[in-house]
Amino acid sequence: MNHTQMHTGYFITGTDTGVGKTVCTLALMAALKDQGLTVAGMKPVSAGCNQTAKGLRNDDAEQLLKASSIPFSYNTINPYAFKPAIAPHIAADQQGVEIQISHIHKQFDVLRAQVDRVIVEGAGGWLVPISSGQSLADVACALQLPVIMVVGMRIGCINHALLTYNHIQASGVNVAGWVANQVDNSMTALDENIHYLTQKIHAPLLATIYYTLAPQPDWALKHLDITRRTF
Ligand SMILES: Nc1ncnc2c1ncn2[C@@H]1O[C@H](COP(=O)(O)OP(=O)(O)O)[C@@H](O)[C@H]1O
Ligand SMILES: [Mg+2]
Repeated sequence: MNHTQMHTGYFITGTDTGVGKTVCTLALMAALKDQGLTVAGMKPVSAGCNQTAKGLRNDDAEQLLKASSIPFSYNTINPYAFKPAIAPHIAADQQGVEIQISHIHKQFDVLRAQVDRVIVEGAGGWLVPISSGQSLADVACALQLPVIMVVGMRIGCINHALLTYNHIQASGVNVAGWVANQVDNSMTALDENIHYLTQKIHAPLLATIYYTLAPQPDWALKHLDITRRTF
């Protein structure tokens, strides 16, 4: 990881959809703002949008926009938005749209030029396709961002976490660290699962987030004690 990459931002991926990527993205943005840095959140591709008078709007992207230091235009934060909550390449195909990584990169550069850190949230997991030939992994690689992997701690997560971690490594991008997020409060042997993963993942465990009703970024931030770390 060179100096420039390290201080540009992060790409947040996860073991699945619904594992806490948005919660972690918002917490990280809050932590960086606490350190006096300006931030932007980006959701390059979203599938699952509401039709509004201003156009299609995705919940994650709206939250990231609100948490950003500058009121960017929605389309810069979320260049590709699709209405149905289905795999992005299918949603794009249905609209006759071809998702271009070069276009995502252009919007990323617009953000990067104006803030200290850009935090990019993927969609679903690492290998979610954006076209017949490319996936969100290719987006992360093109942006050359270190990756933070959010592991949704539930039964089956060890397999998902190791498959994801191995593939990120094989893609040649840096894994900045991982987060253990207890999305399932009925999961047993949480600590043992985390312990096993810390043995297998050669990147730091950045935070353990315990289950809470209605997690808020401020809560997650305090809970993570993420400010003690230098991001
Ligand atoms: N630690 C947690 N405890 C309880 N609920 C959580 C926790 N982390 C995330 N959630 C909830 O799980 C859902 C999915 O989280 P989210 O961050 O949107 O995941 P993703 O972005 O990976 O799809 C949200 O409703 C969120 O509030
Ligand atoms: Mg999300």
